[in-house]
Amino acid sequence: MIVIGGSSCENLANTVANQLDVTSGKLEVRRFPDGEKYLRILNEVKNEHVIVIQSMHHTPDDFLFEYLLLVDALKDLGANRVTSFIPYFAYARQDERFKPGEALSFKTVSKLIQSVGTDEIFTIDMHQHRVVKSSEVFGIPSHNLSAMRLLADYVRKEGKLTNPLVIGPDAEAEQWAKLAAESLNAEYDVFEKKRLGDSKVEIRPRKSSAKDRDVLIVDDIISTGGTIIEASKILFSQGARRIEVACTHPILASEALSRILAIGVANVVGTDTVPCPISYVSVAPLIADNVRKLSS
Ligand code: R5P
Repeated sequence: MIVIGGSSCENLANTVANQLDVTSGKLEVRRFPDGEKYLRILNEVKNEHVIVIQSMHHTPDDFLFEYLLLVDALKDLGANRVTSFIPYFAYARQDERFKPGEALSFKTVSKLIQSVGTDEIFTIDMHQHRVVKSSEVFGIPSHNLSAMRLLADYVRKEGKLTNPLVIGPDAEAEQWAKLAAESLNAEYDVFEKKRLGDSKVEIRPRKSSAKDRDVLIVDDIISTGGTIIEASKILFSQGARRIEVACTHPILASEALSRILAIGVANVVGTDTVPCPISYVSVAPLIADNVRKLSS
């Protein structure tokens, strides 16, 4: 077995290879003067089971295209099985035609991933508002893992929250709020969210009150930070004592982190599905455990 990470997450792939005690594959990736991408696999892969790890954060088209080059080349060079982990899977939000004429990006991306010969795919907290199971979209075995227990363990070990209330900022976040609440042995609730634009959301509380409570807000993605900021404003107005935030994919566009901290949130933690200064939690153990469970 060889683990190969694309340019989006080389450190993560090296850590996974170390944890599994297998070869960490190497790539040469560069650009031709005209901007085209060049990719070369520096290991012998014939008859190997290759674990590919490639996230699709910040420059999703670039990382997706690199993934397609990599897996197509692996299969062409005789790899007998390619199992892919796409820790941050972009384009999952465009799973429906919201306005006439829109591209169904999720469907297109999943078709491309299959077409190059991916045998099995794992994602982590992939955005699935409308799609209940990822196997409805992928025509290959697919699994959506969650990093929420790892994040909750980190928050528990840091020990800064007393008897926290866990809040999911919208209905979809209930699954993550539930997982985090179980790990923290805490109560949870979710808010109601209406998206008004790319960075504007309207959030309304439901039954819980954060008065004199420590709160952990959990979500899959922090992009512009609009969702976390609106949810935090409500919680502070209810009298929350301390608010911390945990998310799987810290995309952190448009100064999101400084804007969240500026309203009084005490701490924001994310994972290395999107490597950044708040990637305090690694998903490497989650990936390594699931590789160990694969049939040989
Ligand atoms: C959407 O429903 C997701 O679960 C996140 O809440 C959303 O992507 C966060 O985006 P933003 O940080 O831009 O509000």
